[in-house]
Amino acid sequence: MKDLLATSVKYEQGRLWVLDQHALPHQENWLPCDSVDAMVAMIKALQIRGAPLIGVGASLLLAHLAEQGADREQLEQGALTLRAARPTAVNLMHCMDRMLTSLKQNDRVALVRTAEAIFEEDIKLCNRIAENGAALFGSGQRLLTHCNTGRLATAGAGTALGVIYKLAEQGKAPHVWVDETRPLLQGGRLTTWELAKYGISHTLQCDNMAGILLRDGKVDAVLVGADRIARNGDFANKVGTYSLAVLAHFHKVPFYVVAPYTTVDVDCADGTQIPIEQRDGAEVQGVSGSFGSVEWAPADTEVFNPAFDVTPAALVTGWILDTGIYSQDEIRNGALLALEAA
Ligand code: MRU
Repeated sequence: MKDLLATSVKYEQGRLWVLDQHALPHQENWLPCDSVDAMVAMIKALQIRGAPLIGVGASLLLAHLAEQGADREQLEQGALTLRAARPTAVNLMHCMDRMLTSLKQNDRVALVRTAEAIFEEDIKLCNRIAENGAALFGSGQRLLTHCNTGRLATAGAGTALGVIYKLAEQGKAPHVWVDETRPLLQGGRLTTWELAKYGISHTLQCDNMAGILLRDGKVDAVLVGADRIARNGDFANKVGTYSLAVLAHFHKVPFYVVAPYTTVDVDCADGTQIPIEQRDGAEVQGVSGSFGSVEWAPADTEVFNPAFDVTPAALVTGWILDTGIYSQDEIRNGALLALEAA
């Protein structure tokens, strides 16, 4: 496989490396990954994360194993195991299905080419999303975002954050309100790291402070990513997105979901069919990362910890995809279904 470089995953001289997102922002550790078990563990621990990127990482790993001489049965089993590593982001399933289809040709080269194509396509999708989204906004927009949807979550510039990078590139000087994103702090640890690295003006707030910003007219629009979009436009994203959508709706602030077509699941009729990952209670009882670990709740406290929530289509102003920007009417008329047919 040729060398492929992204912000948090790279294939270099025959080895696959993952930038450990659990250790960011204080440590930038590149970890080698050379087995299905290691990749599954990294995906579950969110060392590699973000809907598009887990699909890309799992595909590169399979291609690497093929080059190392794994046989068809091992690769098929590996693809199925990786496919099940996390249940909500449909990108992972789409990527593994593409790899499984390639495997049927019983040709290692085809598998490697598919992984390379998945990586390169993700970069192009981010670019198209960014072009589409940036056309919606003028100069000096104050944009609120949740979780991390940028260079750490994709092979390219990102989805919601990709739009923001494009605005900056166009000289429109956006300001970003960054939701901290409890419990795993993807906003506080990762989005802040990225925005600082790329010189984008931003302010960090706890998730429960967003309401004040929206009420006080300090936010021009909310931009979030997605892990799976049902064909009626309902979508799953990092937990806390739904609360944000309700707040934006109440305060009449435009609310956009930003994603590649690979996040659309036409087999899901609506949000109730999206499987939601439930995670370990320890993530809510305390916090851990490169800064160490703190536990504040009694160890036997019962915890509710869904990793994602579902936002109904009725709360969405527009769906910014690589294929265009869709309104509620267009979604109701089957725009997402047409996407699959295309
Ligand atoms: O649990 P995570 O950090 O993988 O969740 C990520 C998100 O919810 C993102 O918003 C989504 O995957 C889109 S990333 C372009």
